[in-house]
Amino acid sequence: MAKKTLKAHTRVMKGLRPGESVRVLISDARLQVRLKQLAKEIRRDFPNEPLHLIGVLKGSVFFLTDLARDLGGEVSFDFLSVSSYGQGTDSTGEVKLIKDLDVSIEGRTVIVVEDILDTGLTLKYLLRFFEEKKPKDVRVVVLLDKVERRIADVRADYVGFEIPNEFVVGYGLDFDERYRNLPDVCTLQFAPKGKSKSA
Ligand code: PRP
Repeated sequence: MAKKTLKAHTRVMKGLRPGESVRVLISDARLQVRLKQLAKEIRRDFPNEPLHLIGVLKGSVFFLTDLARDLGGEVSFDFLSVSSYGQGTDSTGEVKLIKDLDVSIEGRTVIVVEDILDTGLTLKYLLRFFEEKKPKDVRVVVLLDKVERRIADVRADYVGFEIPNEFVVGYGLDFDERYRNLPDVCTLQFAPKGKSKSA
């Protein structure tokens, strides 16, 4: 993959709270182009194979549904939900299963679909969890990879974009459950205290 430095640019958006601003890091158009390339890479590796996509809620929802349509061929999907203990931007590394898979993955070719790979602690937990269920193969596709934040020794097989260590929202990613519905991946900035009238 060609590596480019991603730079955010400002775009005026409605619905922002006072004191918060967003800048587009990866536009909707760029996302869709890259998704088509990712789908091609995956289909090159598994040309005729039924693919079972597993989305990790909630951030991966838009990524999974767009990618599923780009993949073509036989595709099924399932979702699970995990939570990492510790709030805010840092986690303690403990991961807890909140919602299990609906169907067995034994003997299936599984593509784990994640919106973002950060410390890697969630993915490390998930890979161990999936391996116990005896799938035929497990591959990982992530839209965003914050390489410099990695703690666990894990990597994704397919990466949409490597991004800098900035707080990102949009296209499924949230801040306090907000901004998931932005069409672009954006960085989120906060005004210094005293410069906004927000609560
Ligand atoms: C995000 C993302 C991964 C995890 C990656 O989920 O979807 O599951 O964090 O972080 P890590 O590499 O440091 O483990 P989040 O907890 O934000 O939940 P959400 O998808 O519901 O927003």
